[in-house]
Amino acid sequence: QARKLFSYNIVLIGFMGAGKSTVSDYLSTMFAMNIVEMDQEISDREEMSIPDIFATYGEEYFRELETKLLIELQSRKNTIISCGGGAAMREENIAEMKKNGRVVLLTASPQTVYERVKDSDDRPVLNGNNNVEYIAELMEKRREKYEAAADIVIQTDNKTVLQVCEELISKL
Ligand code: S3P
Repeated sequence: QARKLFSYNIVLIGFMGAGKSTVSDYLSTMFAMNIVEMDQEISDREEMSIPDIFATYGEEYFRELETKLLIELQSRKNTIISCGGGAAMREENIAEMKKNGRVVLLTASPQTVYERVKDSDDRPVLNGNNNVEYIAELMEKRREKYEAAADIVIQTDNKTVLQVCEELISKL
């Protein structure tokens, strides 16, 4: 029987490649928490990859699915919710995240993000622009919103997943 450690869910946000999926996998194992990877959940329900959803229905449709899912997840307990990188860009989503639990922002430098996503072909917002300059620009545009949403901020450059998780737990 898993011991319930937290009385709230943990909501991970941040740019692509900031480490949300890696950290959520690790935390869920460490603390026997449930995990919802929002991109995965949306993709499973739509029976389509994220790039296909963007290409077929457009970004707005995907953003709408994110909002609905964030609302639905408020009934979950003992759960780590790993958001897609753009989920904090909608004002209404930030409010829904706060109702979901403690919002943790993971950050990484454009260079680190580039190293982590450069071989990825499932990031439609990069539109093939997997280069440091484009990443830096998009990150800067989004920074204010990420920071507004966050209860806790953790920088992940040059840290192991264990170090990031320890820091996260200590700040909760
Ligand atoms: C997006 C990030 C992706 C995914 C979608 C849009 C974004 O999630 O939700 O491609 O707008 O930053 P990851 O952060 O898991 O790559």
